[in-house]
Amino acid sequence: MAIHPVLTWGDPRLKRNSEDVGAWSPELDQLVADMFETAIAEEGVGLAAPQIGFNINLAVIDTSAGEDPARKIILINPEILREEGIQRGPEGCLSIPGIHEVLERPRQVWLKNRRPDGTWYEQEGEDLLARAFCHEIDHLRGRLFVEYFGPVKRQVIQRKYQKLHK
Ligand code: NI
Repeated sequence: MAIHPVLTWGDPRLKRNSEDVGAWSPELDQLVADMFETAIAEEGVGLAAPQIGFNINLAVIDTSAGEDPARKIILINPEILREEGIQRGPEGCLSIPGIHEVLERPRQVWLKNRRPDGTWYEQEGEDLLARAFCHEIDHLRGRLFVEYFGPVKRQVIQRKYQKLHK
């Protein structure tokens, strides 16, 4: 297993649209294991493949910080089917370290998600998990959470970020 360096805000590779995952392979098993390891090492709830330079529709989520294997979720070519309600809370991203901003997300989200074997199922998530679904799927579409804010607020965040990482 290996921890991969995470690409950060401003890297053009984070802005690309990802391609669907095709046939599963031992290499993808390894990549998923590495992604979980990287997310936990960096104390993140999730990690999307584009954040470590793979532009494919693959992401991992672990809301237990490595404590409960049953809570590990692999998103493969996921699509949001429906959303309900609103939650307001702080959001952060391993690609924008040190920045946490309050962002509105749906409180409950239903996904269509693929298993490694190619079969599909519906996955429901609420609260933190719903937020993670939205956040990781945004990564697969080349979108970072700070892009939801208007230009003025985004500039303030950018200055704060630059100050933090001088
Ligand atoms: Ni992120």
